[in-house]
Amino acid sequence: MKALTPYVPGEQPKLANLVKLNTNENPYGPSPRVIEALRAEAADSLRLYPDPNSDRLRDAIGVFHGVEANQVFVGNGSDEVLAHAFQALLKHDLPILFPDVSYSFYPVYCGLYGIEYREIPLTESFEIRVEDYFIPNGGIIFPNPNAPTARLLGLPEIERLLEKNSESVVVVDEAYVDFGGESAIKLVARFPQLLVVHTLSKSHSLAGLRVGYAIGQPELIEALNRVKDSFNSYPLDRFAQAGAIACMQDHGYFDETRHKVMATRERMVAEMSRLGFSVLPSSANFIFARHPAWEGEKLAARLREQSIIVRHFKKPVRIAPFLRITIGTDAQCEALINALKAILS
Ligand SMILES: Cc1ncc(COP(=O)(O)O)c(C=O)c1O
Repeated sequence: MKALTPYVPGEQPKLANLVKLNTNENPYGPSPRVIEALRAEAADSLRLYPDPNSDRLRDAIGVFHGVEANQVFVGNGSDEVLAHAFQALLKHDLPILFPDVSYSFYPVYCGLYGIEYREIPLTESFEIRVEDYFIPNGGIIFPNPNAPTARLLGLPEIERLLEKNSESVVVVDEAYVDFGGESAIKLVARFPQLLVVHTLSKSHSLAGLRVGYAIGQPELIEALNRVKDSFNSYPLDRFAQAGAIACMQDHGYFDETRHKVMATRERMVAEMSRLGFSVLPSSANFIFARHPAWEGEKLAARLREQSIIVRHFKKPVRIAPFLRITIGTDAQCEALINALKAILS
């Protein structure tokens, strides 16, 4: 086990008055209906185990996306859903494929489960080129929009990939899709090899509740359930199930907050560009930006001196000049822009 290289999550500093733009959380609180449901759940029934199959939640997710409950798998955050997908669906003789710049948990799961992988370079402009994946493989996984680049791969391209890749599972990790992308869930009915993974941590403002889910045809879902029931029968506690059900039923709040985040993003991209940053096109609740005159690490350190925390990745080397900045409230973004103006001048 000493050979394992674990994932390093973004920091959660315990300081007051921080402008925290480093872990892609939603700046707005969850739906008031979620809070109400959680309060109602704080009751005597907590002495009882939760529903091991999260039936009511899977029904609610099914209604939200227009699929059957037997096409839905839920887990303790999408990280757990992804972990089970690696073990249940992506462990084969051939290496699995994912982009060289991508969610840094993927190689960690490969290490944990002994899965061979091959990293496929993104293009010069940090895009996924689906042709590069038309090679024999044990499975394919990528975030869409990609993280940390924020770039979106269009649905017709995903469809083309699925048409060419029918022999192995394709996992599309849509953690950020609600901020401007089109979900591949609509392709699930046509492609039995497709698994689409979602989370309530970003567009639903519930990172603290730890709920994620996957949608695919029943055969893939059954495989995930076999792994889950060999590991932990009760991954979602009573609060997580009750809160997530209420969340799935409040479309209005979901739409309002995600559109607010997208509007702030557009303003922030414009301001950053005016300051001389190159900002990759973003369909997520974060941007990936670099300044021609500054090293990413130095700029992150200077922002930190002003209590503004953003994320910087040292590796791979070609993303070292960039900063990944979460879209906060308008006031947080204004604080960031003002700090950048002061630093750059
Ligand atoms: C691409 C991607 N997938 C999955 C996750 C995991 O999210 P969670 O475990 O909170 O559902 C993250 C979190 O940052 C992410 O960036």
